[in-house]
Amino acid sequence: MQSDRWEHGSDFHWGPIAPVGPVPSPPWRANPTYWATGRHALLALMQHSPSARRWTRLWIPSYFCQSVVAALTTTEIQICLYPDSPIEAFPGTDDLPVRAGDAVLVVNYFGLRSRPSFVPRVSGVEIVEDHTHDPWSAWASESDADWCVASLRKVLPLPDGAVLWSPRGHGLPNVRPVAIEVQQASLQKMSGMQLKALYLAGMPIRKKVFRDLLLESEAPHKEAPVSAMTPWSRELLECMPCVGWCEQRAANHAALRRSLAGVPWLHCLAPGERLQGCPFSGVLLFDSPQRRDYVRRGLIESRIYPAILWDLEKTPPRVLGNIRPQDLDLSRRVISLHCDHRYSFPDMVRVADSIRRLGTAFGSDTADAL
Ligand SMILES: Cc1ncc(COP(=O)(O)O)c(C=O)c1O
Repeated sequence: MQSDRWEHGSDFHWGPIAPVGPVPSPPWRANPTYWATGRHALLALMQHSPSARRWTRLWIPSYFCQSVVAALTTTEIQICLYPDSPIEAFPGTDDLPVRAGDAVLVVNYFGLRSRPSFVPRVSGVEIVEDHTHDPWSAWASESDADWCVASLRKVLPLPDGAVLWSPRGHGLPNVRPVAIEVQQASLQKMSGMQLKALYLAGMPIRKKVFRDLLLESEAPHKEAPVSAMTPWSRELLECMPCVGWCEQRAANHAALRRSLAGVPWLHCLAPGERLQGCPFSGVLLFDSPQRRDYVRRGLIESRIYPAILWDLEKTPPRVLGNIRPQDLDLSRRVISLHCDHRYSFPDMVRVADSIRRLGTAFGSDTADAL
């Protein structure tokens, strides 16, 4: 990346892939189906289930991306919330009043969790695991869930793509054709990723042009019928050195945590001690929403673009009631810093320095900040 074009975060750009040895066999290799997005994979499963599996209710964690929740409410299956969030070590599924015909979606938040040592199984209740944040974890490989899903486009530089598999060998939903809306969105995203790469390399590309392409490429997925992954994303997936990239992500995550250790107003979520996997991003929890917002604004001015995973209030307006006050509180104080293969140790130190500087300035500059 040319130094005057240095930036951090936001959408992937498209760059040449350096081969780093054999591409390992991912956990879904035995029986995958590939879908355009994680939402499409989940919807395909839900549409498959009423006849084949007879689900009537799907339990999802209270802390979850609201636009995904909105998509899940479009089927006849009732969506119910159970208490869970990234600051809890295990999903709060033990005491759920489940009954035959229910399914429970369990999330490995930010790749920080290990496989629960004991998952109570109730006859007729199916478990769906969401491995979006670390599809290559030991948990994903050793899973004995009925179904596993991962949105690959969130963790890899792919313009579309998600995978659904069944560790228990259940019959998978039939794959649909690639929807025209998905083809268009994917090609638009690919153009945006390519232009972003040229911009970062110092070429005379206007930022607005690739930003618009990347932003606009999300909308068609919402309108599209449930669709398969595009054939070009399938090809690209086979080229990706996923394990090398996981190692880079883990090293970047560790560098960020080390650089921010001891900051009194900040807590960086840490992987469990025995984690055999790789964190997705640096999830930072501020002492107050005001300091979070102040730091975030300053980071954006410094061309560091964190994500909020997730804003439970704004994007889109909260879909279901009964979100716990502690989930809302968490969502107002959290930001997520990208740790993926695009970045190296000096990038992570630069990001950490900016966070420390801005967060400290908030303390001495509160009136300005509020
Ligand atoms: C944990 C998790 N699951 C599922 C999804 C849905 O994936 P997609 O955006 O590809 O529909 C997301 C997306 O943000 C996610 O973070």
